[in-house]
Amino acid sequence: MRWVFLGPPGAGKGTQAAMAVKAYGVAHISTGDMLREQIKAQTDLGQKAKSYIDKGALVPDDVILGMVEERLKQSDCEKGFLLDGFPRTLVQAQALDKIVELDCVVNIDVPDENIVRRLSGRRVCPDCGATYHISTLNGKETCDCGASLVIRPDDNEQTVKNRLNTYHEQTKPLIGYYREKGILRDIDGTRSVEDVFSGVKAVLGES
Ligand code: AP5
Repeated sequence: MRWVFLGPPGAGKGTQAAMAVKAYGVAHISTGDMLREQIKAQTDLGQKAKSYIDKGALVPDDVILGMVEERLKQSDCEKGFLLDGFPRTLVQAQALDKIVELDCVVNIDVPDENIVRRLSGRRVCPDCGATYHISTLNGKETCDCGASLVIRPDDNEQTVKNRLNTYHEQTKPLIGYYREKGILRDIDGTRSVEDVFSGVKAVLGES
């Protein structure tokens, strides 16, 4: 079980990954979460990454690749892993090919117009990392773990536009890359969270 979740910002990669790791017991490797942990811990890597994330640009490949390579060596990856938000460039995809053979790349497809609505309403938990949307919170401002929910700093309108441009220029070409390898599966990400997950399970179940 060596899987990648691919898709634009706000496609629901993190939401679906949280459900999939629970269902399949694989390790969840989110490069976005790893970078945010580094920022929180005020490490040199975190400070470097922040300058890119705040602009909606990608963190340089060498930084990301070093981080992912180390993470994949950890014992919890032996039973399988789900890469969420990695790879994001052809350089990253080619480097990953040299380390592991992937079973499946799930492309969660959501058009740009839905993305802005999703990200402008996203609320996240700074403690446990849970993700919500204001449309289902019914005015609630705290996480199930008790912490106050916050807006991610890169979810402002201008940064979201930049993140979408970055996705189209640098990450979208990976769809063709993995389709050619015969391991890409497309999922319509515009449906409800539960319906998208049914599609994800149908795809992962056969991989
Ligand atoms: P990262 O944290 O990976 O951000 P992202 O890819 O932009 O993805 P998001 O976390 O914004 O969205 P998501 O697809 O997980 O959606 P979610 O489930 O939260 O990366 C952040 C930054 O770090 C990057 O911009 C870059 O700078 C850097 N970085 C990370 N990885 C890198 C790499 N490999 N290389 C270089 N730089 C890297 O859902 C979004 C919202 O929609 C939520 O509110 C959710 O509740 C809602 N929602 C989810 N599913 C549905 C649904 N089916 N219907 C309605 N609403 C839904």
